[in-house]
Amino acid sequence: MSAQNQLSALHTYKGVLFSSLSSEEVLKSLDSFDAREDDVFLVSYPKSGTHWVAEVVENIPSAGITLTSPIELGDISKFEELKMHSKRRVIPTHLSYDMLPVTVKQKQCKIIYIVRNPKDTAVSLFYYYKDNPNLPSIETWAAFLELFLKGDVVYGSWFDHVLGWEEHKNDKNILFIFYEEMKKEFAKSLKKITTFLDINVSDSEMSKIAQKTSFSTMKNNAVKENCDPNHIICALTSDRNLVFRKGVVGDWINYFTPKQKTVFDELFGEKMKHSELGRCLQE
Ligand code: A3P
Repeated sequence: MSAQNQLSALHTYKGVLFSSLSSEEVLKSLDSFDAREDDVFLVSYPKSGTHWVAEVVENIPSAGITLTSPIELGDISKFEELKMHSKRRVIPTHLSYDMLPVTVKQKQCKIIYIVRNPKDTAVSLFYYYKDNPNLPSIETWAAFLELFLKGDVVYGSWFDHVLGWEEHKNDKNILFIFYEEMKKEFAKSLKKITTFLDINVSDSEMSKIAQKTSFSTMKNNAVKENCDPNHIICALTSDRNLVFRKGVVGDWINYFTPKQKTVFDELFGEKMKHSELGRCLQE
């Protein structure tokens, strides 16, 4: 199948590709969403560790929250569905900063932005495309990487997404969390999250959260939770089994050829030359 045909399985809204699970109607109506001051948004480019952070937040004792389905998933009835939640809502999304509903910005809702090394993100997204019936199947890694670098993938360019959010890195209501730091120093990332949400968590509670949200626990639980509509936090599939692949840092090395690495690094260097996040992600 040609790259052009692959793209036709997706639709474009405001120049960005979306899967058919996000209707044009819901995307056009995002600004009619009435955010509450205590809403928390979990934002990321796809495959950056959204489910992991969602599970962490859900497991914080006495957080008093409800994890909802992504704001851009479904049709217009979505906004009515979101109104039904009486507890503090934690709402996942892969939207760019510009597309986020205006009331979220006006009310300065808390936002956790999760970011991951783009080479690992690209590999993870490649496998997600392969296994996910809601996304076009792109046969080779080389063809997928070309689309990824052009931003012709679902939710558009990784660079645009991250740079758009980075412009708001000093906003007090936005916390940046790195996938790699979560892997290396889980307790440190967890502390950042609980402090940001103003929730006290004891050391023993922290260890329980670490255990409940480990990759192996989450992967095993995905089988049981698969049909549970309360666990549809992914904007791209309701099949949780697709989400948990390897859960490691640096898997990209097994897929990038030396030439692909050079091309990627050159583009990264050019696009991220003024970016502090870019420097963190290179280390
Ligand atoms: P891989 O495909 O590299 O394994 P998202 O939730 O944004 O869709 O991101 C999915 C990626 O996060 C997948 O990466 C998945 O395995 C990884 N992931 C999910 N839960 C994790 C966990 N508890 N620990 C580490 N990685 C996790």
